[in-house]
Amino acid sequence: MTDAASPSALLVTGAGSGIGAAAALAAARDGWFVHVTDTDGDAMAATLDAVHALGGSGAGHVLDVTDAAAVGRAFAAVRQGPGPLRGLFTAAGIDRGGPAHELEAAQWRRVLEVNTTGTFLVVQQALAEMMRGGGGSIVLCGSPAAQVGFAAGGATAYGASKGAISSMTRTLAVDYARYGIRVNAVVPGPTETPLMWAGVPAEEVDRMREQVAREVPLGRMARPEEIAASVLWLLSDGSSYTTGSLIGCDGGVLAKSSISV
Ligand SMILES: NC(=O)c1ccc[n+]([C@@H]2O[C@H](COP(=O)([O-])OP(=O)(O)OC[C@H]3O[C@@H](n4cnc5c(N)ncnc54)[C@H](O)[C@@H]3O)[C@@H](O)[C@H]2O)c1
Repeated sequence: MTDAASPSALLVTGAGSGIGAAAALAAARDGWFVHVTDTDGDAMAATLDAVHALGGSGAGHVLDVTDAAAVGRAFAAVRQGPGPLRGLFTAAGIDRGGPAHELEAAQWRRVLEVNTTGTFLVVQQALAEMMRGGGGSIVLCGSPAAQVGFAAGGATAYGASKGAISSMTRTLAVDYARYGIRVNAVVPGPTETPLMWAGVPAEEVDRMREQVAREVPLGRMARPEEIAASVLWLLSDGSSYTTGSLIGCDGGVLAKSSISV
């Protein structure tokens, strides 16, 4: 992506695990200077070690995306590092489900706080940075839950939080195109990460994994690296005419109706 003497910088939230970690590693391999951030300091450090182990360069920041002051401090640190900031991938997210009529208001608020407000706080800082630096590419993390109801149910808060990501993607793309900033979202299908099984009893995981695999047209769940490949494309000049798009990487989930006649 960049020449070694002056690498472009990328910040990844939620980079301690799953899709964010895979994207951080793929970006490091591609020559980005990667700011690895996560609220979990040990997980963040493990990803940063992996970045260094593969010969990449980066820096680590413990960052809770819901803490506006901490987000400001992280971007101040980014300004001190190699730059300019040309990329952002917002992978930080949580899934706390439950039927809507039983969902605690605090759960609802927390899911929207992390997935939607947290994304906004980080995007806001990145936009200012990229406007100063002459442009960049922002990749948000959507979900099929923004577009369809999940058969397993209980995704009201999560789906709403990701619906906001879909609309943010489009409005930001229109507003910031004039500054050379592209904004897209990757829409992952079921991907083998801890988030996928959040709230599923341990003894149920294997059965559910098999069921999910059967339901996906491609017949299996995604590996985080497969989602990362789409993120890297959206970050790269290879997608230079793509903005405001929700890029499905979902094994065909959104293409499928469950009605079989
Ligand atoms: N796994 C899937 O099937 C799937 C499908 C569609 C979308 N997604 C989305 O992909 C993104 C990444 O999820 P994943 O599956 O890799 O999950 P994951 O649980 O493996 O990783 C999420 C990371 O976000 C971090 N995080 C949580 N709250 C945070 C906060 N307040 N501030 C900063 N970091 C925080 C966690 O510590 C964790 O490292 C999420 O936005 C998720 O909604 C996942």
